[in-house]
Amino acid sequence: MKFVWTTDPHFDHVPAAVWQSWVADIASKSPDGLWITGDISEGDDVVVQLRRLAAAVDVPVYFVLGNHDFYHRSIADTRRDVIAATRDDQRLVYLTDCQPIELTVGVFLIGEDGWGDATVGDFDASPIRLRDFDMIEDLSRLPKEHLKDQLAQLGRESAERLEDKMASLPPHARQVIVLTHLPPYREACWYEGRTADDDWAPSFVCGEIGRVLTSYNQLHPSIRVEVFCGHTHHEGVYKVDENLVVRTGSSTYGAPEIEAVIELL
Ligand SMILES: [Fe+2]
Ligand SMILES: [Fe+2]
Repeated sequence: MKFVWTTDPHFDHVPAAVWQSWVADIASKSPDGLWITGDISEGDDVVVQLRRLAAAVDVPVYFVLGNHDFYHRSIADTRRDVIAATRDDQRLVYLTDCQPIELTVGVFLIGEDGWGDATVGDFDASPIRLRDFDMIEDLSRLPKEHLKDQLAQLGRESAERLEDKMASLPPHARQVIVLTHLPPYREACWYEGRTADDDWAPSFVCGEIGRVLTSYNQLHPSIRVEVFCGHTHHEGVYKVDENLVVRTGSSTYGAPEIEAVIELL
């Protein structure tokens, strides 16, 4: 089976002609499905973009949402509308809302949005303040002193769902593919060939998901876990362990890419 992976396409920045040639490029690979690791558009547009994409590629679109996908709205409202769209169009598969999917014998696909959860680096001392804190209703309405707790809570919720999904994998699982938006480790948080410092890590790493992945790998060292993520818009590979690898994808606003074509045996 063959899958095309893309991350952070930010379709709201993509001119129509560029979008059409990108879709044609995907079709030329004849994939069995598309993987998107978040930042598809913004909250008031993400459903429109997903529907348009599914109709154009006409293969399953497996995706998670990124922070930009919630802009101008609340997290719950966005997820509700996205889930409703997946009920209308079976080609759309929102992995955060799904149990593990067996792609081929023993190879499972899992996804969770994740969040920059302020658990890695030094949030209190960091001067970095993402637009998220103004653009997403759940964060913009919060008193500043509660922001860190809310971010940690969002990361924890993603991690707990991921942990349940991984625990539900059957005994014949030999490989797990995890799609998530945020790099789950500081070492996977690439920017121009370097990894995040204490200022950037709180908003660019989902430490709680990293904790779940590390503990799964320790309990099941023979099962290969490959994580695909984005958010930093810069690429890199971090090998956590022999059988736990994180691939972070690159992106440029206005010019969506095919990050990789992945073949599964
Ligand atoms: Fe992005
Ligand atoms: Fe992002």
